[in-house]
Amino acid sequence: MRPHHTDQIIYSAEQIRERIPVLVDEIAARQSGDFVMIGILRGSFMFMADLLRSFNRHALHPQIDFITLTSYVGTSSSGEVKLTHDTNLEVEGRDVLLVDDILDTGLTLDKARRIFTERGAKSVQTCVLLDKKTERAVEFHADYAAFPVDDVFVVGYGLDYDNHYRELPHIAEVTFLS
Ligand code: IMP
Ligand code: MG
Repeated sequence: MRPHHTDQIIYSAEQIRERIPVLVDEIAARQSGDFVMIGILRGSFMFMADLLRSFNRHALHPQIDFITLTSYVGTSSSGEVKLTHDTNLEVEGRDVLLVDDILDTGLTLDKARRIFTERGAKSVQTCVLLDKKTERAVEFHADYAAFPVDDVFVVGYGLDYDNHYRELPHIAEVTFLS
């Protein structure tokens, strides 16, 4: 890892805690009763858990699973996305909600959406914690996003820098020191 600090908080734990039920109300209003939630590992695990807890208020009981899609090396995307851990949940004819930590180039979610569309899902919607305001490598728009974020590298609440900082309860910017 390059010399850096993570002192700059972009979204606090409290802001995240307040935003999630509002986002879940929005999702619940548009989602059918029987849907499947698939989190993309590893960045989505914390967001996924908080979304799920909040769905309880709407008496929604989605089946859940996780898949692993791998593309990132350090802080720059390699451009290729591979499915390295799959789910065996049956998705044919069902509504699927994909959950990821951050939408950046769009390659990861684009790949994930293709996978479940090809498997015959009735619908595939996407929900991200952060929508990075950057140029996408593929055109992609998330159906739901908790927060926008500038084109900076962020960590915390599941997001990592070289697999560190996932434990932070807030989202922080990684400031690189030269
Ligand atoms: P995309 O395929 O470029 O949209 O990237 C999605 C994946 O890149 C996310 O699931 C993250 O793992 C990773 N990523 C992109 N930007 C950041 C960041 O600022 N911090 C940590 N991980 C990031
Ligand atoms: Mg990730």
